[in-house]
Amino acid sequence: MIFKSIRSKIILWYMLVLALTLFVFSLVLYHNLNKSLYRNIDDLLRSRAEGVISSIDTYWETEKLEIAKDGGKEAVYSKINNEHFAQLAQDWVDEKSTDPALVNITVQIYDINGRNIASSQNIPESPNFKKNIADLLLTRKAHYDTFDIALPDAKPLRLRTMTMPEFENGRIAYLVQVGSPLTSISASLNRLQAILFILLPLTVFLTGIVGAFLAKKTLSPVDEMIATIHQITAENLKQKIGIPRTNDEIQRLAETFNDMLDRLADSFTTQQQFIQDLSHELKTPLTVIKGELEVTLKKLRSPADYETVLISSLEEIDKLTRLTENLLMLARMENKEIVLEKKPVDLNVLIAGIADDLRILAEQKQVRLEYEPRPQVNIMADPAQLRRVFLNLLDNAIKYTPSGGRVCINLEPVPDRVRIAVSDTGVGIPANELKNIFHRFYRSEKTGSDIGFGLGLSIANSIILALHGSIEVNSAVGKGSTFTVILPLSSQL
Ligand SMILES: Nc1ncnc2c1ncn2[C@@H]1O[C@H](COP(=O)(O)OP(=O)(O)OP(=O)(O)O)[C@@H](O)[C@H]1O
Ligand SMILES: [Mg+2]
Repeated sequence: MIFKSIRSKIILWYMLVLALTLFVFSLVLYHNLNKSLYRNIDDLLRSRAEGVISSIDTYWETEKLEIAKDGGKEAVYSKINNEHFAQLAQDWVDEKSTDPALVNITVQIYDINGRNIASSQNIPESPNFKKNIADLLLTRKAHYDTFDIALPDAKPLRLRTMTMPEFENGRIAYLVQVGSPLTSISASLNRLQAILFILLPLTVFLTGIVGAFLAKKTLSPVDEMIATIHQITAENLKQKIGIPRTNDEIQRLAETFNDMLDRLADSFTTQQQFIQDLSHELKTPLTVIKGELEVTLKKLRSPADYETVLISSLEEIDKLTRLTENLLMLARMENKEIVLEKKPVDLNVLIAGIADDLRILAEQKQVRLEYEPRPQVNIMADPAQLRRVFLNLLDNAIKYTPSGGRVCINLEPVPDRVRIAVSDTGVGIPANELKNIFHRFYRSEKTGSDIGFGLGLSIANSIILALHGSIEVNSAVGKGSTFTVILPLSSQL
């Protein structure tokens, strides 16, 4: 389905947001233009109404002088309900209706009874003109209005009017009503409406197309990645996905994915290597036992011969038993099946005990084992597992140190931790092998492969990790090695 691709989702959201934004923008634009066009026409109407009033009043002042000259009475000076004034107003309108300032402006004048006393030419009849006159005579305030007037054989004409009272001694003398057709405003607004109506969907549509193109271009590496990932199986974990040089999340995703493939390939290789190593380890003693038993069975042997063969077979079986025990231990450790005990252990006592146990072994090899006891160093740990760690380290140190050499154990508390270093003056480990010695079954070729299984350090390492500690090694070929274990003190466990 189309909505299942990120591309279409992004574009659809984008188009929706754009459409909404443009819609709101158009509404605001239309509303503001509408308001400002009306404000303009209202300003124009007000200025025209004021112009008409001032011009008529000037006419009337001159007319009053004429009347006075002719001996007219004071009473006729008032514009209120004055027929003379009505005539003057109509004359003024007739004369001025062609004035350029009044082009497209209708002018009508009403007396205080609401009677139309003057009207510019060509104003179609409509009751709407007089609609608000009565109200206005009461409120005495200028008034705007918009209405349609029917035209014969044409669309109704929309008109905006302004009616303004003129006062005489605080009383309304007459009302001037000016009006202007809204044809041009309506045309402008309709044009804007049409443009927006076409432009808005068109913009959204075009943006959608451009967006789709850009999204396709941006996301095309993802499609390629998907295609490559489809081809990756357990057998070809070495295959990599192409890294797009886009310097963005997609590049980082591809790099992270390749890193993950590397790690998977490593762990796959480790697993396969483990199975191979294990088969090899199991095969050697089994072959030895089988060979010896077969040879022995070929003819009748003396009891002493049988005993020799049985002893040798027993040694091989012991080896196999140790191997399986070690492997089981390692597997349980890695699967976190072994729950480490946590009880106070005095490291000084523990290490001194191990050193005493191994001293005989060391002396047999003419290696000096040195440990200078320290005051109490208490940590929270599993004593049996800790013993296993130091037994393995000391076993290695003694095993890989030629006679006449020396093995030292050094216990040293450091802030929050304790450091135990086991150093020897043995054969050392080549620098390029240091990273491998903690791997299962790894044995340096230099030290020979028949001395051990290559499991001691893996076991020690997994125990130390489970105790939240760390183990490091420093070594120089021919000079010796130092294995340093760092363990947290009681408070941190
Ligand atoms: N103190 C040391 N001096 C020199 N090489 C060492 C020392 N400790 C470990 N190694 C090297 O690291 C390898 C791995 O050690 P590890 O204890 O895991 O295995 P191992 O001693 O060979 O066998 P296992 O401990 O299972 O009987 C050893 O085979 C040896 O080559
Ligand atoms: Mg060992």
